[in-house]
Amino acid sequence: MVVILAAGKGTRMNSDLPKVLCSVVDRPMIHFVVDAAEKAGIGKKIVVVGYEAEKVQAELDTRGQSDIVYALQSEQLGTGHAVQICREHLQGHQGLTMVIAGDSPLVQAESLKSLIDHFDKTRPALLLGTLTKDDPEGLGRILRNEEGQFIGIVEHKDATEAERQTKEVNMSTYLFSTPDLLWALDNLSNDNAQGEYYLTDCARLLRESGRPVEALPVLKDCESLSINNPDELKLVDQTMRAMGYA
Ligand code: UD1
Ligand code: MG
Repeated sequence: MVVILAAGKGTRMNSDLPKVLCSVVDRPMIHFVVDAAEKAGIGKKIVVVGYEAEKVQAELDTRGQSDIVYALQSEQLGTGHAVQICREHLQGHQGLTMVIAGDSPLVQAESLKSLIDHFDKTRPALLLGTLTKDDPEGLGRILRNEEGQFIGIVEHKDATEAERQTKEVNMSTYLFSTPDLLWALDNLSNDNAQGEYYLTDCARLLRESGRPVEALPVLKDCESLSINNPDELKLVDQTMRAMGYA
């Protein structure tokens, strides 16, 4: 099962279109994210919609697939809240729930596959895909202890100057054991710089409860590009064309 986060307005895009419907390579970006999940062999897809939900749903309906279900997040209270909205779909499942972001059309099916393989081997509560980025401005940083073990994710806005020096980043590629995800969702708070329920906090909560959490730096360079403003939209479009997506 995969949860695709697509409810945000995308305030920083300065566009009336919901962010996930802005086009890259002449196609609304959300399609590339659904394509990648499909190519990775994931069955059931839950898309969290909110801002202009009908438009996003209508666009995805053009795929003619019946295996997409929608969860409506009427108020966008954060990425953690977006997954909380999916609880009824997750309840009772024992296996893997992947969570990925609709604003990352360069997510690679191969990366998702290798994460799934690793997850099947080690069966952690959470496996995160990460990468190292020279300019990590704005992104969630991966915190590790001196032994290199994962400690947690800190959002750029909440990070100290020292934490901001970290170049290993979260790209919103999460593989959760579903019961552990449900436990973490019940324990999220919104006590942070943005007053939002952060999905990233699940990582720290799970680790602090003694559950195994792993962060694996397997993502490719191109996957460091997500879309939050018009400049990033242009850069991703150019990158995808150069990679032969067009
Ligand atoms: C998020 C991560 C950050 C990571 C970055 C890039 C959190 C708290 N932060 O930040 O660590 O480095 O992505 O992967 O998760 N969305 C909803 N409902 C909401 C809020 C967001 O569905 O209430 C959706 C958006 O539509 C978007 C995705 O979630 O597709 C990510 O949201 P966005 O606001 O772009 O998060 P970032 O600030 O980029
Ligand atoms: Mg984003």
